[in-house]
Amino acid sequence: MKIFENQNLKPYNTFGMEVYAQRFVELETAEETPAAVAEYLQQWPYYILGGGSNTLFTNDFCGTIVHPAFQGIEVMEENSDNVLLRVAAGEPWDNLIQYCIRRQYFGIENLTAIPGLVGSAPVQNIGAYGVEVKDTVQKVQGYILSTRNPFELSNADCLFGYRNSIFKQTLKNDCIITYVWFQLSKKQHFTLTYQGLAKALQERELPLTLRNVSDCVRQIRDSKLPDPQLVGNGGSFFKNPVVPAEKYKDLQTQHPDLVAYDAPDGGKKLSAGQLIEKAGWKGKRVGNAGTWKNQALVLVNYGGATPKEVLDVAETIIKDVKMMFNVTLEMEINRI
Ligand code: EPU
Repeated sequence: MKIFENQNLKPYNTFGMEVYAQRFVELETAEETPAAVAEYLQQWPYYILGGGSNTLFTNDFCGTIVHPAFQGIEVMEENSDNVLLRVAAGEPWDNLIQYCIRRQYFGIENLTAIPGLVGSAPVQNIGAYGVEVKDTVQKVQGYILSTRNPFELSNADCLFGYRNSIFKQTLKNDCIITYVWFQLSKKQHFTLTYQGLAKALQERELPLTLRNVSDCVRQIRDSKLPDPQLVGNGGSFFKNPVVPAEKYKDLQTQHPDLVAYDAPDGGKKLSAGQLIEKAGWKGKRVGNAGTWKNQALVLVNYGGATPKEVLDVAETIIKDVKMMFNVTLEMEINRI
């Protein structure tokens, strides 16, 4: 493993916050993890950092950051229908997508171009265009920090929900993920429930192939979401809020065009982006922070923004949305 002192975290967070970590430990192999757990993850504060695409550093970090950087994709089992892959935590998510497209493995193509590393994918159950990673995760392996023991959790054990899992609940700050196992299909099947994707494929008159679906997803993302290489951001800053069905009905009397999807337990999931847009925040900039012009749910660093500028924008948005709709937005991003 590599150890750095006073490490600038700017290259390690897609929001582009210039903050420093007292100590930064980069794990080069999965086998180093137990030693790192014993040596660096017993004394608070520490933080496990993947690709930094869902993290907003709000200050310098006076502790140890552990960054699993080990990569690798291995076929563990295969038959004529399915393949089981074991993927190392430090593998960039989009590398896995490209690998699956090359080998014609179906199931995660709708998750094309999501920034970040494989080890972070189950934590927030990444999802886009009608697919969530929970649909293909077979199990997750790693180490529990408090007991220093290895763990292996099946899909059911991971308690996946919308942008949620056991890793954000009881195991929060108490585990490090080393490998994620994926079960993918070798038989052609696509999820085209997201209208924009089906429409884009139809309009382009493209045959239904893994490559075309993936390319369409990438184009839709490019049209809506800022490229973190060019404009600092952490994807959706808030979760889409779920409200009781009666509340949605009430809101519709004033806002008949309000988008909603069915949520578990009879609730309705509203579009946070639409609420933020209606509250007048789409493409708005205050100092160096603001929201993206094509997707109000994404807060951006227009260049040189401080964490305070971003948080001030977020808090004002929460207040304005609450005032207009009586709905409380919950931040999706990890604030550290
Ligand atoms: N909308 C607006 N104004 C906006 C943004 C959206 O009116 O500024 C409306 C759209 O017109 C559409 C609806 O809201 O009718 C939903 O918008 P979109 O399809 O863009 O998706 P979203 O609900 O805003 C979620 C995920 C995204 C994911 C997309 C596509 C969350 C928090 N976000 O966004 O995930 O890419 O669906 O499936 O669930 C992420 O998590 O970082 C992320 C980008």
